[in-house]
Amino acid sequence: MEGIINWNELWKLMRSGSPWKISLDEPAGSFWDKKSKQFNESMMQNRERTEKQIAKIGLAPEYTVLDVGAGTGRLAIPIAKQATSVTAIDPSEGMLACLQENMEKESVKNVVRINKQWEDIELGVDIEPHDVVIASHSLSMLDIQEALAKMDAAAKKCVYLFTFAGRWMDGGFCEEICGEKRSSWSDYIYLCNILHDMGIYANVEIWDSEYEQHYASLDEAVTKFKEMYDLPSEKEGLLRAHLSKILVEDGGALCLKRKSKSAMIWWQTNAHERA
Ligand SMILES: C[S@@+](CC[C@H](N)C(=O)[O-])C[C@H]1O[C@@H](n2cnc3c(N)ncnc32)[C@H](O)[C@@H]1O
Repeated sequence: MEGIINWNELWKLMRSGSPWKISLDEPAGSFWDKKSKQFNESMMQNRERTEKQIAKIGLAPEYTVLDVGAGTGRLAIPIAKQATSVTAIDPSEGMLACLQENMEKESVKNVVRINKQWEDIELGVDIEPHDVVIASHSLSMLDIQEALAKMDAAAKKCVYLFTFAGRWMDGGFCEEICGEKRSSWSDYIYLCNILHDMGIYANVEIWDSEYEQHYASLDEAVTKFKEMYDLPSEKEGLLRAHLSKILVEDGGALCLKRKSKSAMIWWQTNAHERA
């Protein structure tokens, strides 16, 4: 529907208006700097989800991989064990510090870290093309079309994007607490349409994901949620009531189970003509 719907402009609107704010005014990376430790801890509890994701990426021992928005290395580190090297790009110093610690713990040496946002990366200056480019839950760029075009240009073989389809099945958390009543701005459907308008006819795979998080107590859950979602103190009562409804007892701890539809969008970069 080129010309009738401008998907990139729609993305920009959704991105700027999301109550799940990654402010466009804050310096790049500072949003995730504050959350890096908690993110790292929670991702370590969901290794199965990571393994499932990696199994879907076509890797070979001789491949070089570029991870855009690599964060704490949840994917970069296991990928580095199966490939020649990984270049991890991320604007958050906090996330990259966790990545460094994780590399040391796992004796991984072939991950190169670049502390920049993707928009500021210059191909041929900061990085050379890699065989495979991945971006997992890191597509917070305002001009996503420009960001995707750069990923396409940076990949010799394939690009893999990971995001969600539709809304989190979170027991009403986003609606009740954050006031988010619509699909996330990073819904895969925007990306497919933007790519289509760029002449990239990407493949899509959707699957069910379950995410589990354990907390020692209700107080711990409330503190961590407030931190992760930047919730103001006046929402604490509402949050506490909501969490006590949805957390379930599990082996002496409290467990939060959330479901979502994960989406992988991927394409071969030599299969279409570059503009
Ligand atoms: C939710 S975390 C995901 C990390 C990792 N890719 C994963 O799947 O575990 C999002 C990451 O994207 C990074 N990020 C956000 N905007 C970015 C941008 N414009 N360029 C590069 N990375 C970005 C953040 O700093 C953060 O580390």
